Amino acid sequence: MDSIEIVGGNRLVGTVPISGAKNAALPILAAALLADGEHVFRNVPNLRDVHTMTRLLERLGAQAEYTDGQVRVNLSRAIEPTAPYDLVKQMRASVLVLGPLVARCGRAVVSLPGGCAIGARPIDQHLKGLSAMGADVELHHGYVEVTVPGGRLRGSDIALDFPTHTGTENLMCAAVLAKGRTTLTNCAREPEIEELARVLNKMGGRIEGAGTSVISIEGVDSLHPIDHAIIPDRIEAGTFMVAAAATAGDLLLEGIGFEPLEAVIAKLREAGATVEREGDGIRVVGSRPIRPTDVITQPHPGFPTDMQAQFMMLMCLAKGTSRITETVFENRFMHVSELNRMGAKIQVNGRTATVKGVDRLEGAEVMATDLRASASLVVAGLVAEGTTYVRRVYHLDRGYEHIEEKLIPLGANIERVSGNA
Ligand code: EPU
Repeated sequence: MDSIEIVGGNRLVGTVPISGAKNAALPILAAALLADGEHVFRNVPNLRDVHTMTRLLERLGAQAEYTDGQVRVNLSRAIEPTAPYDLVKQMRASVLVLGPLVARCGRAVVSLPGGCAIGARPIDQHLKGLSAMGADVELHHGYVEVTVPGGRLRGSDIALDFPTHTGTENLMCAAVLAKGRTTLTNCAREPEIEELARVLNKMGGRIEGAGTSVISIEGVDSLHPIDHAIIPDRIEAGTFMVAAAATAGDLLLEGIGFEPLEAVIAKLREAGATVEREGDGIRVVGSRPIRPTDVITQPHPGFPTDMQAQFMMLMCLAKGTSRITETVFENRFMHVSELNRMGAKIQVNGRTATVKGVDRLEGAEVMATDLRASASLVVAGLVAEGTTYVRRVYHLDRGYEHIEEKLIPLGANIERVSGNA
């Protein structure tokens, strides 16, 4: 198993190209199941989760190939609508094939994803929506089996109890081929939802309102394949922004606008960083002292839970005390004990972490527990005194494209050490 070794203390300076968004690529690749023929997706990040999704598409009967940032998905053979446990357990987002499979085949058998390190993560809202569209939903032996009597879903009014991100995506994909109009209320409003709607509309769908809390979908009879370039990854960009602020660096993030990152930018400015638009990107300049800043995670457009661990790391170096409250997932503080091992002073009480700023962090051997926690440990390593060893880097590889290769040209002293070394 690979690890990452970082000798901290260098300012990060330079330009970083932002990769395609993982959480846009995954639902878009799943949505390819909705139309026969060959799709071409560009600006697809080279990530473990993307490769898991292409393997899953192949298992379902599609041909899916990743080469140099492009994925071609070809649907010319029969689809076998079963997503097995061995792939779903590797990546919860495999559940994104559920909506497309039910819409296309009138039937799907998908392994229940189960919980993960950050929370229980049920999919009851996805299933409630499919039932409202006329599907029968049964759970057997760890699998959810969804069958549509008559083979085609029918449009319906669905009110989500919580604006679930992948739930909104699954139901949009299900409704796009349903008979009649579906209205989804209390939808997730993340930029990746808007991107999926753009893709489905390009394929011939009729979706309005994505990006707001009410999405209206007029079902169509069929869709066609497309060629599409995926939006940049706002969380990768946010992670580099925090790295600039933490190292008192100066980074230009290329190819990402302000809009998807407004909540993060507001908090970075409150913490004392300078954040400005520059060309088609964003420049972030860090300075000292870092000001203590409270954060409450919320569904978009609130502060993203996917940036909570990284921002908490920044607050470890603030002059004063900050409170970080996680409201989206019930167990997303596993980076706390690792950051404390590096000299941070963080105390967790229920959903709130109280972070007392310290003058410096010290390098240590730390364990990555989930994707964003891993990113916070890498940034901590960049500022810590001495050497940090981040173990279990496979979490990081699920969501960051060659993070060390992007950091080295910016001045970081970072190296990937292969598991056999
Ligand atoms: N929830 C339910 N029932 C449901 C669905 C969700 O109770 O049917 C709860 C979850 O348990 C959780 C909350 O609602 O407490 C939010 O979950 P949501 O469904 O919005 O999350 P998700 O769709 O499973 C996506 C991203 C996550 C990101 C969250 C929140 C993808 C593939 N994943 O997950 O990304 O944290 O939205 O924005 O889009 C990551 O990239 O590191 C990551 C974890």
